[in-house]
Amino acid sequence: MTDQELITRAVQMQDRSYVPYSHFPVGAALLCEDGTVFTGCNVENAAYGSTICAERTALVKAVSEGRTSGFAALAIAGRGEDFCWPCGACRQMLYEFAPGLRILAVRGDGAYRQASLSELLPSGFGPASLKKQRGEKSNRV
Ligand code: THU
Repeated sequence: MTDQELITRAVQMQDRSYVPYSHFPVGAALLCEDGTVFTGCNVENAAYGSTICAERTALVKAVSEGRTSGFAALAIAGRGEDFCWPCGACRQMLYEFAPGLRILAVRGDGAYRQASLSELLPSGFGPASLKKQRGEKSNRV
């Protein structure tokens, strides 16, 4: 699948967005190395903080279908003037499964920029970070 095809899948998902509060639809398309694509949209909530972003929707769909590795690229498409880079919470969640993921950030006119997740989240905290603990363990720390 080409980058442009992946971007088209992300843009199409904007129509599924539930955005009565921000009116800012975002679509995402997560490509696996075997060609499978998991899509997502943002889903907002009256308790605003319970909102889930489009890219996290796509990721949890993938993980819940048994995919925890082998991710190749992620397109995130908004309709704004700025490129739709993932928010901090999404960067962290993606880092767990794909620290080197190629990310395509798309803006409303269809133009896009590319970056790796490791560029967007340098020195990230991931599964390996938890293995570096030293000393005695107690219930308190
Ligand atoms: N949003 C995403 O879905 N992905 C991003 O990368 C940026 C922000 C959503 C969250 C919220 O529904 C709306 O955009 C405005 O923040």
